[in-house]
Amino acid sequence: MTTPAALVVEDEADLRELIELSLSGMDLDVVGVGTLAEAHEQLAKRSFALCLTDLRLPDGMSLPLVEKIGRDFPHTPVAVLTAYGNVETAVQALKAGAFDFVAKPVDISQLRSLVQTALRLTANLPAEDASTRLIGESPAILQARATIKKLARSQAPVYVSGESGSGKELAARLIHELSPRASGPFVPVNCGAIPAELLESEFFGHKKGSFTGATVDKPGLFQAADGGTMLLDEVADLPLSMQVKLLRAIQEKAIRPIGAHAEQAVDVRIISATHKNLHELVDKGEFRQDLYYRINVIELPMPPLSERREDIAPLTRHILAKLDPAGRTSLSDDAYAALAEYDFPGNIRELENILERALALAEGDVVHAEDLRLPAPRPATPAPSALAAMNPAGSAPPAASEPTAAGGDSLEDYIEQLERERILKALESHRYNKTKTAEALGITFRALRYRLKKLGIE
Ligand SMILES: Nc1ncnc2c1ncn2[C@@H]1O[C@H](COP(=O)(O)OP(=O)(O)OP(=O)(O)O)[C@@H](O)[C@H]1O
Ligand SMILES: [Mg+2]
Repeated sequence: MTTPAALVVEDEADLRELIELSLSGMDLDVVGVGTLAEAHEQLAKRSFALCLTDLRLPDGMSLPLVEKIGRDFPHTPVAVLTAYGNVETAVQALKAGAFDFVAKPVDISQLRSLVQTALRLTANLPAEDASTRLIGESPAILQARATIKKLARSQAPVYVSGESGSGKELAARLIHELSPRASGPFVPVNCGAIPAELLESEFFGHKKGSFTGATVDKPGLFQAADGGTMLLDEVADLPLSMQVKLLRAIQEKAIRPIGAHAEQAVDVRIISATHKNLHELVDKGEFRQDLYYRINVIELPMPPLSERREDIAPLTRHILAKLDPAGRTSLSDDAYAALAEYDFPGNIRELENILERALALAEGDVVHAEDLRLPAPRPATPAPSALAAMNPAGSAPPAASEPTAAGGDSLEDYIEQLERERILKALESHRYNKTKTAEALGITFRALRYRLKKLGIE
């Protein structure tokens, strides 16, 4: 095992030294630089488990660096150092893909816990995913598991279909991790989250000077996924114009960055996924038939949970063990029975959320059916609000503009409370789909996951 490395980008020598010292004390191999140019150089040379960067550097603002790392090194979390009290720049940094920010003057203990969280995030990724096999013993899930194993050995494009929350992304990851490409990158791309005018540059990269604003050469997602697997998530959301270009890239196994003269070969396996009915979209002329055939060489349908009710109990036990590793809480028989009856329109993700909320709300060490707060079979109103549930007074959720500062009096508590309410609301209105929630909040998926952890929402 090599020591994980951290990249520190800070031009104030004293502060940089202080950070370097505290990170070295955490058994990190620290590389400190004072400019963006040096940071880019370092990133090209080696991989980092973490990057801390000042927002303002002698050669520019660091937001493009944050964006670049998020795009090209998705396993390197970046945190940004911001001037005290400057919430706006902090938000900008988060939007650009930073997983957190540190306000100056830097509080060392705060910095340490941030670094620890970041390292846990990166460390957990591969290990957790590799061991989290698809849980379930129903014929449908056994079939899916067998198909995944077979697909892992092939290079064929795979199309994962299935309802939202049914495990499409997990299946795609497993295919990658069981495949010979496992040591290469797995690059999930949320096709619906990239603005149409940026798609080509995002996917294929661009050359410096190829359009206004293209100030440096920028590699695209295909280059980032070279040697690995790309998941085209929500592929149905790609506009037709981009579908043509994608088809070409897949067919030719080569791409041409915007402004480049020659094509360059890329070795990327494509897995696509969507909860929409792609075949129907083809019939309606909204999805190109030729691309459909290209990416749908093999279909892997992920069965909805309502069609494999026998998996509800094992999944429940599995999720419970993850949420409560010490095994302090258990589910009563009536709770299991209630779950077995429920429809799960949001599938496994919904089950995860139900259990998480139930654990948070349960009074003793047994979760009863009523703690699950399952929506009535035919709900006239949306599911009970997680927000209301978080609000012990049981009052209606406050208007977005009037947050309740319940946590405490400090500004920090107030901001946290604001954040929590906004995130819970967004989660709810997107049926706990984190990808969509992150999108709605204008932050990256990774940033959302980090904030959920930090706020103790999951
Ligand atoms: N069979 C399974 N065993 C264990 N965990 C599962 C299983 N299927 C899904 N999960 C978990 O459920 C959650 C949702 O799965 P995933 O993100 O893969 O769904 P999805 O189909 O991609 O959803 P969406 O359409 O909303 O993007 C994840 O936390 C995943 O780890
Ligand atoms: Mg998904």
